[in-house]
Formats: sequence, C-alpha cells, structure tokens
Amino acid sequence: MCGIIGYIGDRSLKEVLYNGLVKLEYRGYDSAGISVLSSEQNDNKIATFKATGKLHHLGEKIKNEKIIGHLGIGHTRWATHGVPSTVNSHPHNSSDNSISIVHNGIIENHAELRASLTQKGYKFLSATDTEVIVHLLDDNYTGDLAETLRKILPLLEGTYALACISVKEPDVLVCARKGSPLVVGLGKGENENKENFIASDVSAILEYTDQVIFLDDNEVVAIKKDQVKVWDENHNLKTIAPTTIEWTLETAEKGGYAHFTLKEIHEQPKVISDTLKGKIKGNSAVIDEINLSQEELENISKIHIVACGTSYHAGLTGKYIIESELRIPVEVDVASEFRYNNPIISSTDLVILISQSGETADTLAGLREAKKAGAKTIGIINVMGSNISREADGTIYTNAGLEVGVASTKAFTAQLIALYILTLFLGEKKASISEERRAYMIENLQKLPKMAEEILKMESTIAEKVSIFDGAISSIFIGRNINTAIACEGSLKLKEISYIHAEAYPSGELKHGSLALISDVCPLVAIATKSSTYDKVKSNIEEVKARGGKIITLATVGDKEIANISGEVIYVPEIDELFSPIVNVIPMQILAYYTATSRDLDVDKPRNLAKSVTVE
Ligand code: F6R
Repeated sequence: MCGIIGYIGDRSLKEVLYNGLVKLEYRGYDSAGISVLSSEQNDNKIATFKATGKLHHLGEKIKNEKIIGHLGIGHTRWATHGVPSTVNSHPHNSSDNSISIVHNGIIENHAELRASLTQKGYKFLSATDTEVIVHLLDDNYTGDLAETLRKILPLLEGTYALACISVKEPDVLVCARKGSPLVVGLGKGENENKENFIASDVSAILEYTDQVIFLDDNEVVAIKKDQVKVWDENHNLKTIAPTTIEWTLETAEKGGYAHFTLKEIHEQPKVISDTLKGKIKGNSAVIDEINLSQEELENISKIHIVACGTSYHAGLTGKYIIESELRIPVEVDVASEFRYNNPIISSTDLVILISQSGETADTLAGLREAKKAGAKTIGIINVMGSNISREADGTIYTNAGLEVGVASTKAFTAQLIALYILTLFLGEKKASISEERRAYMIENLQKLPKMAEEILKMESTIAEKVSIFDGAISSIFIGRNINTAIACEGSLKLKEISYIHAEAYPSGELKHGSLALISDVCPLVAIATKSSTYDKVKSNIEEVKARGGKIITLATVGDKEIANISGEVIYVPEIDELFSPIVNVIPMQILAYYTATSRDLDVDKPRNLAKSVTVE
C-alpha cells in the first residue's frame, strides 16, 4: 500500500530518503513526504516537506532545499482514509512539531481515538487515521520515544508499519509493525556501526546494504547509528540475526528499458531457470522449505489454493496441473472471499497460498483461517521474510527477484513453475506420478526458458498487432481448459495497464451471452494453441468471425488454417498443453504492454492501483 523509508547516519538525508521513495513509489503514488531532524546551529527542528501527485512533485519541492541532518523518515502514499492531498499526506506531526511519524496500514479504531484526543484538546489537521498515532505519542510521551510507542500500541486496532522521530531524542529512529511489512537495514562494511535504515521492503535500501532484520508483528525497534534494539510484544529485549538478501541492485533499476514492466517481461527466461534451479535433481523435485512429514504429505486428500489477482490466476492454472497429474480435488478461492465463505477445511487438507509480496492482507487472513482449521499450509512466495512465508508450514520461494511493475508478470510465470515443481514433489511423495512421467514433465519444464526467449524475440511483431485495439472500449479473451486461466490473466493485464475493459471466458461459454458484445469496439483475443480442445476453440472463433468480429489468435507455429479465420495471429512454439500456459502468457503480457504504451499510459504505475495490498 504505502511505502516507508527511514535513515540514521551521515549520508545525505535528502538522497537516501528520496532515492528510497523512488524505489518504493510502486507501493503508492498519490502523494509523498519526508521529515528530517534538521540540526543546523545545534538547534534540533523537524522540517517536513510534502507534495501531492507522483513522487517527482516532492522531488521538485525539495530540490533546492538545504537539508542538513542525520535522521529522517519518508513516505509514499496510497490513500485509504482521506483524499490524496498535501494535508493528508505523511509524515504527520504533533501540534508542537516535536514528533513526526509515517504509517502504512489502517487504524480501525481511529474514530474513537480521535474523539477522545479531541476532548483532550488535540486539533486534527488531516482526515487520516494516522494522525491519531502522533497525538497519542505526544499525549503519552515519557521522555523515551521507544517506551512511549510500546505504551500506546495496545491502544491501536488494525495494522501498521510505522516510524517516528522526535526532536527530544535526536539520535533515535523508533519503529513498530503489525500486519504491514517493515525491515531494518544494517550499515555494512566501513559503515557498520555508523548508519542504519528502515524500509517497507529491501528494494529501497539495497544500494546501501544487503544485511536486514525482518521484524515480527508487535515488535518495536529503536535504531541508533550504531545500535538496533528490538522489543517483543511482551516488552522483552530480543536478538534477531540479520538475513543476507540475495537480490541484486540491478533488479531495482530499469536497466535501459522504458518501463520496469517491460524489463520484467524480458527477465522471464532467467526467472524460469532460477525458479527451477536447485529444485530439480534427476527425476525428482526437491523442496527443502516444506516442513511436512512423509505421513502428512501422503495423507493430503484435498487441496485449496487461495490467492488474489494475478496470483489467483496462477492458482486457477495450478488446479489443472495438480488435478490432471495427482487426481486430487483442488478448489481455488479468491482470498477476499475464502474466509467469509465458511470454507470446509479438514486437517488432511493442504492449503496453498500464492502471493508475490507474501503480504496481501486477504491471502494472509486465508492462511490464518486454514491454520485455525488444522490444515497444512504452503506458501508460494516471492518476497523473502514476508508474513506468509514466515507463518506457513512451508514456502516455495519463486526466484523472480524484485518485481517493481505494479502489473505482475515475471512473478506469475515463476508461480506457475513453482506449481509444477510442487506437483512433481507431491506426485513422488504420494507415489501418484511415475518416474517416467516425472522425467517427461521435467524435460518439458527445462525447455521453457529457451521457448520464452524465442517468444521475446517476436516482441516487435506482437507490438505491431496492437492496432486490433484501436478504438476498442472493451474486449473478450477466450481459452479452454488450462488456458482459460491464461485468458483470465491476459484480460487482467490488458485492463489494468491499458484501461480497456476486458472479460475472459472458457471459449464454449461465449455463445451463452457475451457473443452479443462482439463488435468493432470489442475485439476477441483467442488462445487456440495445440490442445485436446483445439477444434472446439476453433469453432468458437469461427462463430465470432461469422458475426464480423475483430479477432487476434494465439496459435501454435505451423498452424496455417487458423490464419483463415483469425484476422491476426501470434505464433508460439509448440509444447505439451500442460506447459502451454507459460508459453502463452508472455505474448499476452507483451500485447497488453504495447497497447498501453500506444495509448501513452504510465504502464508501471496504473491509476488507482498499488503493488502490495496490505489492507482488506
Ligand atoms: C495484477 C497484480 C495483482 C496481484 C494481487 C496479489 O497484475 O499484480 O492482481 O497479483 O494484488 O498480490 P500478491 O501476489 O502480492 O499477493
């Protein structure tokens, strides 16, 4: 949702805070701000700068400001309470400007807290839920900011990652988290014991350190230049060993591409190999991070997959893969519905949570619901140390690296690879996939990086075909079987970055209503690669052609016939239908990308969206 950065040390505060916010802008981009403890003439003062709109507005505002100091916090906002405006943007300061805070999350009982603070004479400037926190800190201040924060946290209901500074304690940055991500970055090398950082995610501090501490819920941390103190929820001091982050700085840079989204689309061949790497040995899948016994694995009789958005589409694909190979029933649920539907979960069920961020509030709640019911849980997660990865019984990390584009691309293909690996793993443990079949599956998986490369070489050919969407106000995507899920993902990509409405269906469903929409302003995007249902899909395309529809079809290389019924064709390499989702989704991503750029849209930061949805 929102992004938080904080720094204590001797580097240029302006640079560390602003550059950090640039890396975090994907988390929210309707306003931004920083507060710095300015120590000119040894007179500590908090200076706060805020601007609405994209981050560069803040950049322009602070460009000529002389910012001297060694302690500061910054925030990029995705509004929840209060419209995007300068006054509602963070940081929020106490009335005497002695305390400043930034917050990511939602304080659910803010109205009651606001009423009681107002009675005490506190004046609220903003419409945010966050402002209650700074007034509570002021009201309860004991002379020790960390102690005060520990004192007021039990009063807050909801979720938070927050950071605060005070003029009265110019050498400490105090933070806490519950349900929203926050990491502490440790000064490294020459700067060990000279500086420390905090951030919503590691991308913001990766250029300075790869040594981080992942905080747990309800922990409070006081950070000085040379010291990090962490208190657990019972107010006991605790020691947390740092984790080394393996993501490289390049993943946080555009590397010559016009957009992160395009760069991430291009990273897919490597992401596929990286996700496979180390997890395939001979004819077996090896997953070290699954802490379930052989007996527990053997007993699994039903699988639930719980996820949101693109990750949900990976789940829909996973259902086909698992059911066809393991013959175990799989139910896929949108995470925001799962726990409200009174799900039937038994202790022999396996619940798979798919999430790029590992922080999506609804998916996390789904995990907790599953654990409450006694089911076994496995996360398919990209971000190390995230909530879901820490709470699930096991995690398969997708080695996609940092994904910055708000529209998920490489994380999706990595999730699919993880699902194939998990299927192989369960198939061997449950003795339901023969060694010969496993060898066949692995052989196909290993072909995928090369095939992805071949598809990327067709980028300019695919880009030329976006004229099919000229003047379009809507579109229909069709697929069948496993590729229905890819039609769903293709339609989501198109709508979220090009703002063209799109719907997806199993192709046989079209004639039951949606065919009425087909017109000059509503083209059809069909997935008709070689499959057991190829002829059926072809007939459905014919039905659209007979009604004068504009059609673009994804077909298998060598399929000449399809060109007679489809106005435009994108050819992809041939592979067994089971593995075709990976091959088919990449052209869909490229199509959506170039449709968006042809409309001059900000692909990396689509309107109204944020990368991590840590609120319900
Ligand atoms: C769409 C997209 C979102 C996410 C969804 C879940 O391109 O990125 O639909 O897939 O918000 O996020 P994660 O995977 O982090 O749980």
